[in-house]
Amino acid sequence: MASFPTALGLSAERTRQLMGSAGLAPSLHNRQPWRFRLTEQVIEVHADPQRRLPAADPDDRELRLACGAAIMNLRLALADAGVRPLVDPPPPAGSPTTLAEIRGGGRAVPTPAERALHDAIARRRSNRRPFREIPVPVADRNALIDAAQQEQGWLHVLTRTELDPFAELVHRAHRTQVDDEEFRAEFDRWTGRRRDEPEGVPTSSSGPRPEPQDLWVVRDFSAGQAPERVAGKDFEREPLLAVLCSHHDSRADELRAGQAMQRVLLTACAHGLSSSVLSVVTEVAETRDQLRSMLGGSLHPQTVLRFGYGPPVPETPRRDPADLLMD
Ligand SMILES: Cc1cc2nc3c(=O)[nH]c(=O)nc-3n(C[C@H](O)[C@H](O)[C@H](O)COP(=O)(O)O)c2cc1C
Repeated sequence: MASFPTALGLSAERTRQLMGSAGLAPSLHNRQPWRFRLTEQVIEVHADPQRRLPAADPDDRELRLACGAAIMNLRLALADAGVRPLVDPPPPAGSPTTLAEIRGGGRAVPTPAERALHDAIARRRSNRRPFREIPVPVADRNALIDAAQQEQGWLHVLTRTELDPFAELVHRAHRTQVDDEEFRAEFDRWTGRRRDEPEGVPTSSSGPRPEPQDLWVVRDFSAGQAPERVAGKDFEREPLLAVLCSHHDSRADELRAGQAMQRVLLTACAHGLSSSVLSVVTEVAETRDQLRSMLGGSLHPQTVLRFGYGPPVPETPRRDPADLLMD
């Protein structure tokens, strides 16, 4: 096997692990829309235009969220390898796909909190199963809010009275998407996959088959193959849902929001919480605007996260780290 290229003074094996960590970031339909160019001085993070999802994500906003999450993983993995990561915006005259450049800024000694987040990278997974009816303690909720703030984001935890109007928005957005033939075709192409495929969402990662009376989880990732709902295994009555927001809405803000999303998801995992992403409301322009108004009109909702205590779920496959590299 050819040896892996190196970057930022790391060994080939460490660089391979670094790319593996980046690739474990979450992405819409597990499209993994990132690529990296490695040199000794810099890691370039690129969007992969071949991996766009034009029906669900016509403006590439969620693509940038996913790439932001990959950058968060890279930052943690670099710190774990003893390198202080410095993340810069792309050079103005650079390639149009460059999203960020990461350089080494001297030696890093990760804090225990950073170590815990780094350890969570491989354990985190989207859990689409029903969660237990156990409330998430206030201290853990606050840790999630704090994680978003550390990355210049804002996590708005939906209050009990906001849950019903939000559920309305979920159903409205879902109806818009299922009425859209292109959305349906794209969704069907990337879900209900086999576990040995390195991208897309496999049936094994889906939740129970959706039913018409469901309040919350409306997408079937199993292509209709998930087992019928077992009586008494419905979704939690009062889910802990939180809207991950940015304060502004430029492309750089979306990339930062992706880092905030991933810090929140890793913090949840480090605190023993399961999580999933529920992006339907933020994908449909009309419901995204309505959600924005619901939150007071000044924040920009980027995605919605659900937290709780779920059963163990299998990991969703990823591409080999070598396949993430550009020449
Ligand atoms: C921007 C974004 C939007 C997503 N939207 C949804 C969603 O609406 N429903 C869902 O179940 N998962 C959603 N996901 C989760 C992805 O499907 C998941 O990250 C991917 O399949 C990889 O699996 P993993 O998170 O378990 O590693 C989303 C992820 C991202 C980053």
